[in-house]
Amino acid sequence: MEGKKFVVTPWEVKGKIDYDKLIKKFGVEAIDDKLLKRIQNHTGELHHFLRRKIFFAHRDLNWILDEYEKGNKFFLYTGRAPSGKNHIGHLVPWMFTKWLQDKFDVELWFQFPDEEKFLFKENLSLEDTERYTYDNALDVIALGFKPEKTKFLIDTKNAGLMYKEALKVAKRITFSTVKAAFGFTNEQNIGAIFYTAMQAVPSFLPSVIKNKKIPCLIPHAIDQDPHFRISRDVIPKIGFYKPASIQCRFLPGLGGMLEEGKMSASEKQTAIYVTDDETTVTKKINKYAFSGGQATVEEHRKIGGNPDVDISYQWLTFFEEDDRKLENIYNDYKSGKLLTGELKTILIEKLNKFLKEHQKKREKAKKVYDKFLIK
Ligand code: TRP
Repeated sequence: MEGKKFVVTPWEVKGKIDYDKLIKKFGVEAIDDKLLKRIQNHTGELHHFLRRKIFFAHRDLNWILDEYEKGNKFFLYTGRAPSGKNHIGHLVPWMFTKWLQDKFDVELWFQFPDEEKFLFKENLSLEDTERYTYDNALDVIALGFKPEKTKFLIDTKNAGLMYKEALKVAKRITFSTVKAAFGFTNEQNIGAIFYTAMQAVPSFLPSVIKNKKIPCLIPHAIDQDPHFRISRDVIPKIGFYKPASIQCRFLPGLGGMLEEGKMSASEKQTAIYVTDDETTVTKKINKYAFSGGQATVEEHRKIGGNPDVDISYQWLTFFEEDDRKLENIYNDYKSGKLLTGELKTILIEKLNKFLKEHQKKREKAKKVYDKFLIK
């Protein structure tokens, strides 16, 4: 049987994603139970993103743990290219990064490449991306990162610190390599061709600053892997460790099986924004969340629903931490005891509670934003 086509690059995600195929295609490794055990030895418990294989693949995570066990701590690196407001899908890798920061007590370098979406999108000015950098950063701070252990790298502001290092990377990457990795054509603007060098820099910049090799672990959504696949070949050649990484799946959009891919900020009805109010969240979920339920209540009671395609259930796997609760919801929906409307209500309450807290913290973040900047 021929599998359906899907596309995953840093700038395009579409089709029904086959994550097992992606593991092979990108050359990352699946996270197995043995590795989970090893992580658990250090963290005591496992984050539900690990228990549920939402973070499902990695590069060199065993090496990071080898070094950590020898007393050689790593630092974390992740980022967000500002292009608009954050939706809840953006928070997924950052929530996990926060957990890693707490459990391993390590630094985080967070990049805001404010040139990236300027270069890749038609209608976005540098003034726009500057505004969104601040807006997006508030959500990162709201998740609770420690200012003493977290640094924001804003490309156009911290260019002086980064440019020399980017040049060393760029000199060792050819146009044909980026063409193959990102699907570029000759029509691509030259800024976009250079960009991957800027995204490589934070993975070794702390080593440059502290003048010693420090291991780096990058938590990120799987679409970013092509950047690091390229830079991992180059970074040892300029004298630093290959960065390790850990990859997550995408939070699907509300439309689920209808649209596929990932939550997209450009499709407003299928994304929930971090600043959406209770009524908006309720309306969007009730109206747009793809349902695995039956057409009538009678049929649903008789046949039961399909949680595996139901977006409300899928989202609860990201946002309901309690395994027991989640399992009950799964069984009740499948047996027909729980109706679609009831399932949606569970999700709505969960998300609204989370967002209410998040929005409060987001306001407070404005007061401490400066503490995260590099002076
Ligand atoms: N390219 C990412 C985006 O489109 C932003 C980013 C920069 C990033 N550095 C990163 C993401 C490191 C993950 C890890 O949002």
